[in-house]
Amino acid sequence: MPNELTKLAFQTFQQGKSTFGFVHKLLANQAMKQFAPPRSESGANYREEETPKVTQALIDEVRGRLDAMAAVDWQDAEAGVYPASLLFDGAWDELVMNYPRVWLDMPKTWERASKKAFRDFDADVDTTGFPSYYTQNFHYQTGGYLSQESAEIYDLQVELLFNGGADPMRRRVLAPLKAGLSGAFGDVEPKQVQVLDVACGTGRTLKMLRGMLPQASLHGVDLSPTYLRKANQLLSRAAGMLPQLVQGQGEALPYRENYFHGVTCVFLFHELPGPVRQQVIDEAFRVVRPGGTFVLCDSIQLDDSPLLSPMMEGFARTFHEPFYRDYVRDDLAARFARAGFEVVETQMHYMSKYLVGRKPVGA
Ligand SMILES: C[S@@+](CC[C@H](N)C(=O)[O-])C[C@H]1O[C@@H](n2cnc3c(N)ncnc32)[C@H](O)[C@@H]1O
Repeated sequence: MPNELTKLAFQTFQQGKSTFGFVHKLLANQAMKQFAPPRSESGANYREEETPKVTQALIDEVRGRLDAMAAVDWQDAEAGVYPASLLFDGAWDELVMNYPRVWLDMPKTWERASKKAFRDFDADVDTTGFPSYYTQNFHYQTGGYLSQESAEIYDLQVELLFNGGADPMRRRVLAPLKAGLSGAFGDVEPKQVQVLDVACGTGRTLKMLRGMLPQASLHGVDLSPTYLRKANQLLSRAAGMLPQLVQGQGEALPYRENYFHGVTCVFLFHELPGPVRQQVIDEAFRVVRPGGTFVLCDSIQLDDSPLLSPMMEGFARTFHEPFYRDYVRDDLAARFARAGFEVVETQMHYMSKYLVGRKPVGA
């Protein structure tokens, strides 16, 4: 397809996703006001109490950031960082079919939120052996990260939460990773390159990595067996060699040291206690080769946007994100330095921040 046509198609596609996200939120908020159970103490429902006021300035800021990110996404594809087909990627048939399930799950989420019940798992969900910071209903989500149903609807929920910006935010790890790989390992045969995605979840970042690095050996690690199963399903439908998926902890990575040329980690850190965040960075440092790159993507932090800071404060309460308030105040660059990484770049796109760490060649 000619470039201008592809660009127009992409812009229309992104606009469509973001409009769908905004409309979905409007409808979900209306439904919640009508049907969510009130809190016993106050009589108000939980979002009325805890959601910050949505001002026009806030809406404009969010839209502006979304558009700016789409422009960068297009530029990266146009520059050949990854194929333009990635811009349209998504298991759309599945996402559409899952939309009713998102609605069906909502009343359970409201119920849990109104009672502040965040360790509420069905009997068939086995929580034994997992760290206690993990066995919670993040976002008051049914099954936390441990049920099959949660794994089925997670991608769509996140895409709706971010008004169609979740995949474009994930894609922003690709350019710094590729730059790091070609800078330090340009002479390594493409099929010898080893890349790990920590907390790979349902495999969306791995699928993007596969699009950018068709021959590399890709690896994914996550604590959730059901999310890994879902990732396996998604990745086995993609072209190229299947990434190797392993159940394990980011803070005790099941790999030998100096093994990977690059490591990525997307949307994990805001769900970890501070000391565990440090352990994950230490582990990324251990398993990456000297000269290798670690690209971290997670939420922007309080100092990054005063206008969005009320939203960040509200997010922690409304969505049950027990470590988010601490995360948004954390000095991530200092943590990278403590592990031994040199921070070569920090970027900001839409609602996310990116730290690019390099393991010094002599380390
Ligand atoms: C918000 S999701 C992000 C998933 C994925 N990276 C994405 O972009 O959608 C957080 C993921 O981190 C996983 N997780 C949480 N704590 C973990 C830990 N200590 N080690 C490995 N995975 C963890 C969860 O199972 C879940 O899949």
